[in-house]
Amino acid sequence: MRTIDWDYEKNNIIMIDQTLLPVEYRVIECSSIDSLCEAIISLRVRGAPALGAAGGFGVALAAFKCNASSLDAIIKNIENAGKTLIATRPTAVNLSWGVKRVIRAVEDARNIKEAKMFALDEAKEIADEDVKKNMQLGEYGASLLEDGDTVMTHCNAGRLACVDWGTALGVIRSARAEGKDIKVISCETRPLNQGSRLTAWELMEDKIPVTLITDSMSGHVMRKGMVDKVIVGADRITHDAVFNKIGTYTHSIVAKEHGIPFYVAAPVSTFDFEMFEDEVEIEIRKPEELRFFGNRQIAPLDVDVYNPAFDATPMENVTGIITENGIYYPPFLIEEVKIRV
Ligand code: MRU
Repeated sequence: MRTIDWDYEKNNIIMIDQTLLPVEYRVIECSSIDSLCEAIISLRVRGAPALGAAGGFGVALAAFKCNASSLDAIIKNIENAGKTLIATRPTAVNLSWGVKRVIRAVEDARNIKEAKMFALDEAKEIADEDVKKNMQLGEYGASLLEDGDTVMTHCNAGRLACVDWGTALGVIRSARAEGKDIKVISCETRPLNQGSRLTAWELMEDKIPVTLITDSMSGHVMRKGMVDKVIVGADRITHDAVFNKIGTYTHSIVAKEHGIPFYVAAPVSTFDFEMFEDEVEIEIRKPEELRFFGNRQIAPLDVDVYNPAFDATPMENVTGIITENGIYYPPFLIEEVKIRV
């Protein structure tokens, strides 16, 4: 199934619980905004485009579960739910983009029935569009890859991070669909190991050759000539920087040092070109994620911890940004993005 979807019988959200992979594949339901917020915060659903769909379906869920008898009350309810959802993860811009887009669609409703219908139709549209955009983006990106290339990636920008297909991994899937022999090096992505748990799992499911390394090995493999290109996803692209999973910035510096192209693959909904790096809030996660590995304590319980979930890679380290509208090269002009949005 898709990473996240709607159950039309129960009018609930269904999703693959990504915290259980690769040990267990389980589909869970969210029947309330509270359970959806819990799923987002604990990364049962994660990755910028999947969060966009979660935000959209979340607004639809708020509309369906609201028993209010007036349209105004339903609208108030979904606006409050939207605020709660947006606050769960501040860095990935797609979440607020998905929420706002569905709320806007509901504004045209003339009655409660239409409010529910418009919300669900728009949320479904976001999910369907995501798959189409990723496949389009994948085709553009595939043109950058040569037969025999090894691509290094960080975190999980695959189908699990989207509704389907993936952004960075979508490029690899598209290139392989064209018959190119592409191999992947996946960084494990501490502290929550999206690279080892999710990227390695989904590539192996598709029989795409993947080798797992620790994040600290990226310099070594690039210096050894084992990497032809780096492709990562993005959580937010501002005027001057690309926000992605913590560790991305370090890989970009090593890639630049070794003359290895560093690409970002992301839908246009991830662009926030009116903002600058310093204005973006980076999500700080719990110290327990570094003090424990699963249930096992791996640090003194009272050690001070700094645990930002994302970092910013300055544009000068980025070779190109692969989108569903084409590939952007430096200088990444705001005018150009605006025209193409
Ligand atoms: O904390 P996560 O797992 O949601 O972080 C995800 C990433 O950083 C991805 O690289 C990004 O969202 C792009 S997904 C296509």
